[in-house]
Amino acid sequence: MDRERALALVKEQLTEHRYIHTIGVMETSIELAERYGGDVKKAELAAIFHDYAKFRSKEEMKQIILEQNMPKDLLVHNMELWHAPVGAYLVEKEAGITERDVLDAIRYHTSGRPNMTLLEKIVYVADYIEPGRVFPGAKEVRELARQDLDKALIQSLRNTIMFLLKKNQMIYPDTIFTYNSLVTGGK
Ligand SMILES: [Fe+2]
Ligand SMILES: [Fe+2]
Repeated sequence: MDRERALALVKEQLTEHRYIHTIGVMETSIELAERYGGDVKKAELAAIFHDYAKFRSKEEMKQIILEQNMPKDLLVHNMELWHAPVGAYLVEKEAGITERDVLDAIRYHTSGRPNMTLLEKIVYVADYIEPGRVFPGAKEVRELARQDLDKALIQSLRNTIMFLLKKNQMIYPDTIFTYNSLVTGGK
């Protein structure tokens, strides 16, 4: 699918603010793919669709998680996590994207997973550092992403985990497993 068609499909699903964020993630993903030898077209496509399901109702997302082959423990965790696996499902069903690696980059863009692929890392980090991200820590991760993608990813996971700890919120196990798989260098 070409960029214009993908953007048109996504624009119908998102608010103006979230659409601008999506453009930022797309541009950042392309830059990271070029820098780290990733597939630029796949990075572009996954980035465009990464937040496709962001504004679906809680009921619809819950229904999809229950009916499809998705981890049911998502339901006891923050709803913020749901749009990623639900998005991968809907992007295949509604937009006809079938490339498994692109769908996985969408699926794991909030939780991460152990042993992430290069494409998954690119979209995860781009989502954290796109130019519209101004929260504390984004600048540091942006700088790390110029040198070392794994270091940027570890720092964004660390920030996310610490943010949740400070707010007394649960941490999704896969986020911890992702962090562990990176700090041990995959050992
Ligand atoms: Fe997202
Ligand atoms: Fe996003």
